[in-house]
Amino acid sequence: MKTRSVVTMAFLLSLTAGVSQAGGDAEAGKARSAACAGCHGVDGNSVNPEWPNLAGQHPGYIAQQLSYFEDGTRENTTMAPMAQGLSQQDRDNLAAYYAGQKVKTGTADPELVEQGKGIYRGGIASKGVAACMACHGPAGKGNPGANYPALGGQHAAYIVGQMKGFAAGNRKNEAAIKIMKPIAERMTDEETRAVATYIQGLF
Ligand code: HEC
Ligand code: HEC
Repeated sequence: MKTRSVVTMAFLLSLTAGVSQAGGDAEAGKARSAACAGCHGVDGNSVNPEWPNLAGQHPGYIAQQLSYFEDGTRENTTMAPMAQGLSQQDRDNLAAYYAGQKVKTGTADPELVEQGKGIYRGGIASKGVAACMACHGPAGKGNPGANYPALGGQHAAYIVGQMKGFAAGNRKNEAAIKIMKPIAERMTDEETRAVATYIQGLF
């Protein structure tokens, strides 16, 4: 039952996500990324755990999030100004550049990793929280066709921040509100930290 509803939801969202599939030019994106490197790293691996790695992320997801920051669908005072003045071609070029980089995986906190693994792979049945793996993949690679982002190797601090942000409604696009908000709302701080540290060590 649960698996079936997740699959149905995934199918419906893949129809409505409006994923940008236009081809970007990675070389042009690399040139443009000079403005981003101070926070996201030259190769898309950020040095501050509050700032997301972009390396290896799906290009459609990166380009789409950039337009959400620009129009306020995703609220963030640091990224909003960075996303202004980019054309669709700039977004696609930047996305192509970062998608082609390799994410550097971190390490998981040994005290929380088992609990986190259980949630990632099996969900929390008592609360109706679906397994993260169902959409983000067993190795955290996501699903480009459905525009489910890759998570593997992402900084735990950033993941925790986004889960809080989903719960608070900072990300207002349909997938965020319909899928991630109800998941994030049902998880305790400890459960969120546990799954985040597992993801940080996942590749
Ligand atoms: C001053 C630091 C800073 C700079 C410069 C910056 N970013 Fe960001 N970026 C952030 C932060 C912080 C976040 C997380 C925002 C949030 O919490 O929603 C973020 C998030 C993102 C995301 C969303 C990633 C995800 O996994 O959802 C993308 C895409 C992104 N930035 C692209 C860029 C690009 C492209 C540039 C250059 C044009 C850039 N950023 C410049 C700090 C920065
Ligand atoms: C039914 C599919 C589905 C399931 C199950 C799911 N996610 Fe997601 N997740 C998504 C989608 C879709 C997005 C992109 C939302 C958007 O566009 O803002 C997302 C985004 C995220 C992000 C933001 C990534 C970034 O780079 O900013 C995090 C973190 C996340 N999910 C964590 C989890 C965790 C942890 C679980 C399990 C407890 C989980 N997800 C379960 C579909 C899912």
